[in-house]
Amino acid sequence: MVDPYGSYQESNPGTESAVIHLDDYRQPGLPAEAYTSDRYLQQERETVFKQYWVCVGLASDAPNPGDVYPVEVAGMPLVLVRDRAGTLRAFHNVCSHRGLQLVKTSCNVQGSLRCPYHSWTYKLDGKLRSTPHFGGYYKDTYEGFDRDSKGLQSIRCEQWLDLVFVNLSGDAPPLEEYLQPVRDRWATYDLDQLRREPREVGLTCNANWKLAVENFSESYHLTWVHPALNSCSRMEDHFGFDVGDMHVGQGSLLYTRGEIEGRSLPTLPNLEAHQKETVAEYITVFPNLMLGVHPDYFLVFMVNPLSPGKTQERMTFYFVGDESMTPENEALRHLPIDLWQDTNDEDIEMIERLQVGRQSPRFDGGCFSPELEQTVYRFQQRVAQAVGE
Ligand code: FES
Ligand SMILES: [Fe+2]
Repeated sequence: MVDPYGSYQESNPGTESAVIHLDDYRQPGLPAEAYTSDRYLQQERETVFKQYWVCVGLASDAPNPGDVYPVEVAGMPLVLVRDRAGTLRAFHNVCSHRGLQLVKTSCNVQGSLRCPYHSWTYKLDGKLRSTPHFGGYYKDTYEGFDRDSKGLQSIRCEQWLDLVFVNLSGDAPPLEEYLQPVRDRWATYDLDQLRREPREVGLTCNANWKLAVENFSESYHLTWVHPALNSCSRMEDHFGFDVGDMHVGQGSLLYTRGEIEGRSLPTLPNLEAHQKETVAEYITVFPNLMLGVHPDYFLVFMVNPLSPGKTQERMTFYFVGDESMTPENEALRHLPIDLWQDTNDEDIEMIERLQVGRQSPRFDGGCFSPELEQTVYRFQQRVAQAVGE
């Protein structure tokens, strides 16, 4: 039996320096302003969402050559484009001419990407192709016009599993390195077996993006907020673990697979006995991505700040192998999705009230349980360090 919360060092040999000492918890958390002010969100745009790898969407959102898929990172419009050869790229979603949002809704483009305003067109690799009448009627150019410099502005973009990440500053260490602690932790899970479920959960809530992340990262609230969940996975069955310096993790020792008439979904192959039956683990990948691995499904939960007090949430689900994806298994696949939907509704009520609480002049940053809220504390520290305040 793993010792819940005693396992930080035990399960992560050699990471002692990453363990936070009790004294640190006497520090208050981030001030209310970090959750309520436009200024702070602007700082986060310049740091948290620019300098780190940020998950923006799924490769399967744009599966075919010519598919374009607009996304947003903290209010910055981007677009994912899959070229004819199958390469997925990310660009700033803005026309180089007068700055129109180039792609409004996801679609498949046949020839080139065309701006609807003055009909400038771009190849799928971002190069500017044509600029009708730009040099005067029936002249596409004028002397000195540098077409090559007017292509779409590309963004560094890499992929892990179905997850598409961008790094806006272009100088973060390689994504592979950034995610190595996650891959190491879940090395025994054969995640290539995952198949995406068409049904997903998407919503907008009235809370700062960090509150959604923090809430996902702790299980202290479970007993009171999720009585249904608590009956199958109690607070004391949860444990925390390190995932390198940037990410945080927690798990549950009492996961039970959904069952309908004695049937359940296939599980990931080659799991150790205890993983197969009972273990679910959750990792918060800094800054905005939350992942959950269960023996029979995988959760991807992304959040995107729309404003200081408004956040877009998206949950997608993956099941194991083609057999899971048959129509007969749909009801079984919907069990965990229903559970997450209900659980998330319960969470949203709480995080929206956390947001309201931050309007109080008496909120002082709050305080943390050294045992049960390490993850929240660490996440807030990472944000504060990134923002530099
Ligand atoms: S703004 Fe796009 S062509 Fe003019
Ligand atoms: Fe919750």
